[in-house]
Amino acid sequence: MLVDISRVLSGIEGEVSIRGWVHHKRSSGGILFLLVRDGTGIIQCTLRKDKAEVFEEIEKLPVESVVELRGVSKKDPRAIGGYEIAIEDIKTIHKAESGFPIAKKYHGPEFLLDHRHLWLRSEKMQAVLRIRAKLLEAARQWLTAHGYTEFQSPSLTQVACEGGATLFPVDYFGKRVYLTQSWQLYAEAAIASLGKIFTVAPSFRAERSRTRRHLTEFWHLEVEEPFCDLEKIMRVQEEFITHICHTLAKDMQPELKKLGREAGDLLKMKPPFPKITYDEAIEMLKKDGVKIEWGDSITWVVEKKLALKFDVPFFITHFPKEVKAFYHKPDPKDQRVTLSADMLAPEGYGEITGGGQRIHDYDELMKRIEEEKLDVKDYQWYVDLRKYGSVPHAGFGLGIERMVMWICKLKHIRDAIPFPRLINRVYP
Ligand code: 4AD
Ligand code: MG
Repeated sequence: MLVDISRVLSGIEGEVSIRGWVHHKRSSGGILFLLVRDGTGIIQCTLRKDKAEVFEEIEKLPVESVVELRGVSKKDPRAIGGYEIAIEDIKTIHKAESGFPIAKKYHGPEFLLDHRHLWLRSEKMQAVLRIRAKLLEAARQWLTAHGYTEFQSPSLTQVACEGGATLFPVDYFGKRVYLTQSWQLYAEAAIASLGKIFTVAPSFRAERSRTRRHLTEFWHLEVEEPFCDLEKIMRVQEEFITHICHTLAKDMQPELKKLGREAGDLLKMKPPFPKITYDEAIEMLKKDGVKIEWGDSITWVVEKKLALKFDVPFFITHFPKEVKAFYHKPDPKDQRVTLSADMLAPEGYGEITGGGQRIHDYDELMKRIEEEKLDVKDYQWYVDLRKYGSVPHAGFGLGIERMVMWICKLKHIRDAIPFPRLINRVYP
């Protein structure tokens, strides 16, 4: 009976059959050592020369060929995964071409990006993608358990949510529309129907700068909640991020370890997270000799300096109106700033979430739309929401790749997503 390799590794001894890709192959002292990978795990299999009928065939088999084999599994502390299969019988399902482009040597990043369709099979990408999947599973689990309903919005829209500079235009039957930057404006409509909601969906930003932290297409987990203010939405984020980190620390230890992340780093996290205001952040930066003035946006280069000071996630709150989108509610105590908060990951990683409290008053929203010189016509439906049952509400957006990047200690965001979309790359 065919079993998953992960089942064998979890402790099956005796006769087993498995199938998978030949990940690696070497011979020594008349024995062939095959590492076989099936998507659930990798196991070492040995083939002795006295199995002459198949030995020669398998010895010539290029890596990444697919085999099906039967053999006897036993515990072996020297093998990766702790088990080894002594092959009794093996057959080739697909013989790969020789010269698999990804060799056991250094390849530059552009080469690996060009061969991303094959590089996905690497142990590094496997670990990252499994952690990414578990992160999303834990996120959905927490949100569902806490009463949030999943809700989807369109990807084609007519208006900017996060400013016109990063909009991607699309020709929509001769009319100009855009790829969505965020689900948020539609979410604000849906809370009056469903209450607390969330989504996991791609967002698009025509980011014109090459950085290690920006994709043009990223996965965005967003949350919107009625009867909610800035304080409350920060508490939601603290509990939510803590749950995800603790789940990863518990369930993904081998993968985290492979990437150099200690589970203990993630278990350290607990609410409440440290909070500094934008004003305090500017003062801290000035003290460090950074050239920055009140009202400037905190660029990702500068943000890094702040994020190096912390070893747990922290918030920067109360950003000036000028550096935040039109929908952010101005602080009634100081109209120059907004009830906004970004969460920054520690160790220099920087912003992973952005959000805060929205304007729920009709006149206040109209005023901000005029100040920002936006066309009210485009936002008519959004403004309409302030006429029919408008309540204080708040939300946030988490960049999945930003969080994966931090958790997996990646140097570049491109490795947090299977097929990255960057300013100079849409292939493969
Ligand atoms: O801070 P942002 O722009 O906020 C919003 O879009 C809000 N409408 C979200 C909300 O309140 N519902 O984006 C949210 C997060 C950022 O903190 C960052 O993690 C991620 O999305 N993000 C990107 N990730 C990768 N590449 C990019 N170009 C990103 N732009 C934003
Ligand atoms: Mg932001």
